[in-house]
Amino acid sequence: MIYFDHAASSWPKPKQVIEKMAQFLMENGANPGRGNHKMADLAGKEIYQTRVKLAKLFHISDPNQIVFFMNTTQALNQAIKGLLSPGDHVITTKLEHNSIRRPLEYLKKVIGIEVTYLDVDDKGFISLDSLKKEIKKNTKLLAMSHASNVLGSIQPAQEIGQFAKEKGIYFLLDAAQTAGRLPIDVQEMNIHLLTFPGHKGLLGPQGTGGLYIHPELQLSPIIHGGTGKFSEDIDQPLKSPERYESGTLNTIGIVGLGAALDFLEEIGIDTLQKKEWALTKRMLIGLSEIKGVKWYGPDPNQERVAVISFSIEGMDSAEIATILDQHYQIAVRSGFHCSPLVHQAIGTINGAIRASMGYSNTEEEVDAFLKAIREIASVL
Ligand code: ALA
Repeated sequence: MIYFDHAASSWPKPKQVIEKMAQFLMENGANPGRGNHKMADLAGKEIYQTRVKLAKLFHISDPNQIVFFMNTTQALNQAIKGLLSPGDHVITTKLEHNSIRRPLEYLKKVIGIEVTYLDVDDKGFISLDSLKKEIKKNTKLLAMSHASNVLGSIQPAQEIGQFAKEKGIYFLLDAAQTAGRLPIDVQEMNIHLLTFPGHKGLLGPQGTGGLYIHPELQLSPIIHGGTGKFSEDIDQPLKSPERYESGTLNTIGIVGLGAALDFLEEIGIDTLQKKEWALTKRMLIGLSEIKGVKWYGPDPNQERVAVISFSIEGMDSAEIATILDQHYQIAVRSGFHCSPLVHQAIGTINGAIRASMGYSNTEEEVDAFLKAIREIASVL
């Protein structure tokens, strides 16, 4: 199988991740923070080590400000629902995944917040001037994805964070497509809330994701229950991460994520970024040469994450994805990619095909993909 669905989940996982998870399951597997024995202590230490590695990657000074969740969606729900109150105004963009849009729309209906969606141009960028014009007295949060999961366009997070800081607005950056792929520095970028998946660019297992919460922010937890510590209190503890992490964690997944972070550090994000960028250019240039194919997002010379959405004139995107899977053994994702407003913005009303690449892909795979698309498009 040629796997071009890294934007949904990276695969295959590095060997070290699989080995570490197997070893942990065989030798440990106890509940961190919920037992007075060596195995529980060791599980707790492994989890803390993963927090430390994430803190190093994202330039976070206190690893305990990183909270684990099952995925980015849960992390975004905690960030958004835990921060906003009735009457608050939020600025977001038409690039967003439903994991930002739906919690915001839910709060709009249920508690009464205001939401502004910034327009995007046909290459997938918001305009900073439009952003500046939308600020109101009650604007509390600026929430956006670092890179689009449909177009691959990368927003200037540092400039946006600086602007949010000047205006005294909280900045939530959704790194679903950039964690492990682009450098992220929560201090330089003035990020108050950072959400990230463990299983995409960070190369860990599914069931892992997280939220960084700026130390000055105290969110309302969305999950209440046992925290292992502070059991005598009737209320949730104030301290992070316990405040937000009730219930047994996905210890095995977090341990695997720790091993994935070691792998990433060994190889270097820069090296992977260069490789993915070269494959992306190759694919874009190749697609440009095929009659009937239209691709979306930034030009080949402009940096983007390794996500390419395209359509073939007169053909249904789901049908092309099925042909690629069944006939060519190539895995892609078609449809709306949980981001319907982007598709409205670029005019792909029936969705598009998305090929997304990662650390394990090669030039030969890109060439095999282009050959397949050439053959499919030639039957028109
Ligand atoms: N958000 C993931 C994607 O874009 C699942 O496919």
